[in-house]
Amino acid sequence: MATRPRRSCLAVPASNERMLAKAATLPADEIVVDLEDGVAHADKERARANLPVARAQRTLAVRVNKGSAADIAAANAVADVIVLPKVESPDDVAAARRLTHLPLEVQIETTLGLVNVEAIAQEQQVEALLFGPGDFAASLGVPVLTIGSGASEYAMARVAVAAKAFGLQAIDGPYAALDDEAGLRTSAERALALGYDGKWAIHPSQLETLHDVFTPNEAEIERARRILATDGAVRLDGDMVDEATKKLAEGVLARAAGHDDVG
Ligand code: COA
Ligand code: MG
Repeated sequence: MATRPRRSCLAVPASNERMLAKAATLPADEIVVDLEDGVAHADKERARANLPVARAQRTLAVRVNKGSAADIAAANAVADVIVLPKVESPDDVAAARRLTHLPLEVQIETTLGLVNVEAIAQEQQVEALLFGPGDFAASLGVPVLTIGSGASEYAMARVAVAAKAFGLQAIDGPYAALDDEAGLRTSAERALALGYDGKWAIHPSQLETLHDVFTPNEAEIERARRILATDGAVRLDGDMVDEATKKLAEGVLARAAGHDDVG
């Protein structure tokens, strides 16, 4: 299992110099510098030329355009990890692997990608599966107009199960309603409940909520530690706890590990 934290993955259009500079100062677990759908068609070349100045406090990812060898070459020079969008088959991953030795995050965001997700998850170099709610809703024909609304729970669950079956992280896509903290929190909590490790953000104001949702709190950590001190089936705080509960506790403590240095 990859241990690189990805509670929050902030998308930053590579064509926006001001946001690129700001991103370097932000406490996101991962900055995803975007060459794909966040960049206007006329700005693609300029966006790629901006990559050398991209920085992140922790992980720096670059999302390339599907099939662009030039994007991958540029990403190789700066990124810790490359995000491959619209992956629909193991061959899509293999084609990228011929161009980079960097770890990969693959976006599952079409119905074809979803029906092949278990095979895609077994490809080498893949560290995480990302669910892409906007493109997926379009591919499925869901009549919504806001990215993140109408996200198929079945699709989200299938991506998470495929990720975990093959030792990968599962990361949810963005919630595009910018001034809706309650909606963002509900969306993140649903992802957490389905087994996701984190979620994309599109604005700095979303980071704090994501860190809050995807980091166990002190009470959960303390209870997990007490559960680990039990043996066999016993009563603890009104619950029956046993060996399976200890696995849950280990999972909570694993999520808590490695998040001490960011808010
Ligand atoms: N990354 C880094 N900084 C960002 C940011 C981002 N994604 N979004 C906003 N900011 C910064 C702005 O630069 C501004 O900081 P500054 O005044 O110091 O320059 C501050 O946060 C407030 O920004 P705001 O005025 O509220 O944003 P906006 O209304 O101009 O832009 C969006 C809104 C949605 C266009 C913008 O947040 C964005 O481009 N997000 C990413 C979109 C993306 O990558 N989409 C594709 C993948 S899903
Ligand atoms: Mg997409």
